[in-house]
Amino acid sequence: MEYSKLIAARYSVRAYRPDPVEDEKLQLILEAARLAPTAANRQPIQLVVMRTAGREAEIGRIYGRPWFVQAPLVIAICAISSQAWVRESDRFNARIIDAAIVADHLILAAANLGLGTCWIAAFDVQAARSVLCLPDEVEPVIFTPLGYPADSPGPKIRKPLAELVRYEHW
Ligand SMILES: Cc1cc2nc3c(=O)[nH]c(=O)nc-3n(C[C@H](O)[C@H](O)[C@H](O)COP(=O)(O)O)c2cc1C
Repeated sequence: MEYSKLIAARYSVRAYRPDPVEDEKLQLILEAARLAPTAANRQPIQLVVMRTAGREAEIGRIYGRPWFVQAPLVIAICAISSQAWVRESDRFNARIIDAAIVADHLILAAANLGLGTCWIAAFDVQAARSVLCLPDEVEPVIFTPLGYPADSPGPKIRKPLAELVRYEHW
Protein backbone atom coordinates (compact mmCIF):
# COMPACT_ATOMS: atom_id res chain seq x y z
CA MET A 1 0.00 0.00 0.00
CA GLU A 2 1.22 3.52 -0.70
CA TYR A 3 2.52 5.02 2.59
CA SER A 4 0.00 7.85 3.02
CA LYS A 5 -2.82 5.36 2.38
CA LEU A 6 -1.30 2.89 4.83
CA ILE A 7 -1.05 5.35 7.73
CA ALA A 8 -4.62 6.47 7.07
CA ALA A 9 -5.86 2.86 6.88
CA ARG A 10 -4.31 1.66 10.16
CA TYR A 11 -6.68 1.80 13.09
CA SER A 12 -7.06 0.18 16.49
CA VAL A 13 -8.83 -3.11 15.79
CA ARG A 14 -10.97 -4.20 18.73
CA ALA A 15 -12.74 -7.23 17.18
CA TYR A 16 -10.98 -10.11 15.40
CA ARG A 17 -11.95 -13.00 13.16
CA PRO A 18 -10.66 -16.42 14.26
CA ASP A 19 -8.91 -17.01 10.90
CA PRO A 20 -5.24 -17.91 11.39
CA VAL A 21 -2.46 -15.53 10.39
CA GLU A 22 -0.44 -17.08 7.59
CA ASP A 23 3.12 -17.83 8.69
CA GLU A 24 4.57 -15.96 5.66
CA LYS A 25 2.67 -12.84 6.75
CA LEU A 26 3.84 -13.23 10.34
CA GLN A 27 7.44 -13.50 9.13
CA LEU A 28 7.07 -10.32 6.99
CA ILE A 29 5.66 -8.48 10.00
CA LEU A 30 8.47 -9.68 12.27
CA GLU A 31 11.02 -8.71 9.61
CA ALA A 32 9.59 -5.16 9.56
CA ALA A 33 10.03 -5.07 13.35
CA ARG A 34 13.61 -6.31 12.99
CA LEU A 35 14.46 -3.46 10.60
CA ALA A 36 13.27 -0.76 13.02
CA PRO A 37 15.91 1.76 14.05
CA THR A 38 16.99 1.83 17.70
CA ALA A 39 19.14 4.38 19.50
CA ALA A 40 22.83 3.74 18.72
CA ASN A 41 21.58 0.54 17.04
CA ARG A 42 21.60 -1.17 20.44
CA GLN A 43 18.52 -3.28 19.57
CA PRO A 44 17.44 -3.76 23.20
CA ILE A 45 14.05 -5.17 22.14
CA GLN A 46 12.68 -8.71 22.28
CA LEU A 47 9.38 -9.90 20.85
CA VAL A 48 7.27 -12.69 22.29
CA VAL A 49 4.70 -14.18 19.88
CA MET A 50 1.91 -16.10 21.58
CA ARG A 51 -0.76 -18.26 19.99
CA THR A 52 -4.01 -17.66 21.84
CA ALA A 53 -5.76 -20.94 20.94
CA GLY A 54 -6.35 -22.88 24.14
CA ARG A 55 -4.63 -20.16 26.23
CA GLU A 56 -7.43 -17.56 26.17
CA ALA A 57 -7.97 -17.53 29.94
CA GLU A 58 -4.26 -17.37 30.74
CA ILE A 59 -3.38 -14.69 28.15
CA GLY A 60 -6.59 -12.84 29.02
CA ARG A 61 -5.10 -12.15 32.47
CA ILE A 62 -2.70 -9.73 30.76
CA TYR A 63 -5.49 -7.54 29.39
CA GLY A 64 -9.09 -8.28 30.24
CA ARG A 65 -10.94 -7.15 27.11
CA PRO A 66 -12.43 -10.23 25.34
CA TRP A 67 -11.18 -9.09 21.92
CA PHE A 68 -7.56 -9.24 23.14
CA VAL A 69 -7.60 -13.03 22.94
CA GLN A 70 -10.05 -13.21 20.00
CA ALA A 71 -7.10 -12.72 17.67
CA PRO A 72 -5.12 -15.88 16.90
CA LEU A 73 -1.88 -14.17 17.97
CA VAL A 74 -0.78 -11.75 20.65
CA ILE A 75 2.65 -10.14 20.41
CA ALA A 76 4.54 -8.60 23.32
CA ILE A 77 7.18 -5.95 22.62
CA CYS A 78 9.66 -6.07 25.50
CA ALA A 79 12.75 -4.01 26.35
CA ILE A 80 15.96 -4.77 28.18
CA SER A 81 16.99 -1.55 29.91
CA SER A 82 20.66 -2.50 30.40
CA GLN A 83 21.06 -3.03 26.64
CA ALA A 84 19.56 0.33 25.63
CA TRP A 85 21.38 3.54 24.75
CA VAL A 86 21.54 6.10 27.58
CA ARG A 87 21.95 9.85 26.96
CA GLU A 88 25.01 11.10 28.82
CA SER A 89 23.65 14.54 29.75
CA ASP A 90 20.68 13.33 31.83
CA ARG A 91 20.90 9.49 31.85
CA PHE A 92 17.70 9.25 29.75
CA ASN A 93 17.25 5.61 28.67
CA ALA A 94 15.90 5.18 25.11
CA ARG A 95 14.33 1.73 25.56
CA ILE A 96 10.71 2.87 25.45
CA ILE A 97 11.27 4.92 22.29
CA ASP A 98 13.02 1.93 20.73
CA ALA A 99 10.15 -0.37 21.70
CA ALA A 100 7.59 2.07 20.30
CA ILE A 101 9.37 2.27 16.95
CA VAL A 102 9.59 -1.53 16.74
CA ALA A 103 5.89 -1.72 17.60
CA ASP A 104 5.00 0.87 14.99
CA HIS A 105 6.97 -0.94 12.27
CA LEU A 106 5.22 -4.18 13.19
CA ILE A 107 1.78 -2.58 13.34
CA LEU A 108 2.11 -0.74 10.02
CA ALA A 109 3.48 -3.88 8.32
CA ALA A 110 0.46 -5.77 9.64
CA ALA A 111 -1.94 -3.11 8.31
CA ASN A 112 -0.19 -3.29 4.95
CA LEU A 113 -1.03 -7.01 4.81
CA GLY A 114 -4.69 -6.48 5.76
CA LEU A 115 -4.14 -7.56 9.37
CA GLY A 116 -5.42 -5.78 12.46
CA THR A 117 -3.57 -4.76 15.61
CA CYS A 118 -4.15 -2.56 18.62
CA TRP A 119 -1.53 -0.87 20.78
CA ILE A 120 -2.10 -2.06 24.37
CA ALA A 121 -0.33 -0.25 27.19
CA ALA A 122 -3.06 -0.65 29.84
CA PHE A 123 -2.08 -4.25 30.59
CA ASP A 124 -1.49 -5.85 33.98
CA VAL A 125 2.28 -5.83 34.36
CA GLN A 126 2.45 -8.59 36.98
CA ALA A 127 0.18 -10.86 34.91
CA ALA A 128 2.30 -10.13 31.82
CA ARG A 129 5.51 -10.97 33.67
CA SER A 130 4.06 -14.23 34.94
CA VAL A 131 2.33 -15.39 31.72
CA LEU A 132 5.40 -14.62 29.59
CA CYS A 133 7.84 -16.00 32.20
CA LEU A 134 9.87 -12.79 31.85
CA PRO A 135 13.28 -12.63 33.52
CA ASP A 136 13.68 -9.64 35.89
CA GLU A 137 15.65 -7.55 33.40
CA VAL A 138 12.98 -7.82 30.68
CA GLU A 139 10.27 -5.14 30.72
CA PRO A 140 6.98 -5.60 28.84
CA VAL A 141 6.28 -2.32 27.03
CA ILE A 142 3.46 -2.84 24.53
CA PHE A 143 1.18 -5.70 23.55
CA THR A 144 -0.86 -6.11 20.41
CA PRO A 145 -3.27 -8.73 19.18
CA LEU A 146 -2.63 -9.75 15.57
CA GLY A 147 -5.39 -11.11 13.38
CA TYR A 148 -7.93 -10.32 10.71
CA PRO A 149 -10.26 -7.45 11.67
CA ALA A 150 -13.92 -8.15 12.41
CA ASP A 151 -14.78 -4.47 12.80
CA SER A 152 -14.31 -1.40 10.66
CA PRO A 153 -12.51 1.88 11.28
CA GLY A 154 -14.26 4.85 12.80
CA PRO A 155 -13.42 8.45 11.96
CA LYS A 156 -9.83 9.56 12.64
CA ILE A 157 -10.14 12.17 15.36
CA ARG A 158 -6.95 14.21 15.47
CA LYS A 159 -5.93 17.78 16.28
CA PRO A 160 -5.62 19.90 13.18
CA LEU A 161 -2.03 20.62 12.12
CA ALA A 162 -2.42 24.20 13.35
CA GLU A 163 -2.77 22.86 16.92
CA LEU A 164 0.11 20.44 16.54
CA VAL A 165 2.95 22.26 14.83
CA ARG A 166 4.87 25.43 15.71
CA TYR A 167 7.51 26.89 13.49
CA GLU A 168 10.85 28.39 14.51
CA HIS A 169 10.05 28.60 18.24
CA TRP A 170 7.38 27.70 20.82
C1 LIG B 1 1.04 3.97 23.46
C2 LIG B 1 -0.38 3.56 23.20
C3 LIG B 1 -1.07 2.83 24.13
C4 LIG B 1 -2.38 2.41 23.90
N1 LIG B 1 -2.99 1.58 24.80
C5 LIG B 1 -4.24 1.14 24.54
C6 LIG B 1 -4.88 0.22 25.43
O1 LIG B 1 -4.33 -0.18 26.44
N2 LIG B 1 -6.12 -0.22 25.10
C7 LIG B 1 -6.77 0.18 23.96
O2 LIG B 1 -7.89 -0.28 23.70
N3 LIG B 1 -6.18 1.05 23.08
C8 LIG B 1 -4.95 1.53 23.36
N4 LIG B 1 -4.33 2.38 22.47
C9 LIG B 1 -5.01 2.75 21.23
C10 LIG B 1 -5.43 4.23 21.20
O3 LIG B 1 -6.56 4.42 22.02
C11 LIG B 1 -5.71 4.61 19.73
O4 LIG B 1 -4.52 4.44 18.99
C12 LIG B 1 -6.20 6.04 19.57
O5 LIG B 1 -7.44 6.22 20.22
C13 LIG B 1 -6.34 6.44 18.10
O6 LIG B 1 -7.20 5.55 17.43
P1 LIG B 1 -6.70 4.70 16.17
O7 LIG B 1 -5.55 3.83 16.63
O8 LIG B 1 -7.89 3.88 15.78
O9 LIG B 1 -6.25 5.65 15.09
C14 LIG B 1 -3.03 2.80 22.70
C15 LIG B 1 -2.33 3.55 21.75
C16 LIG B 1 -1.02 3.92 21.99
C17 LIG B 1 -0.28 4.69 20.91
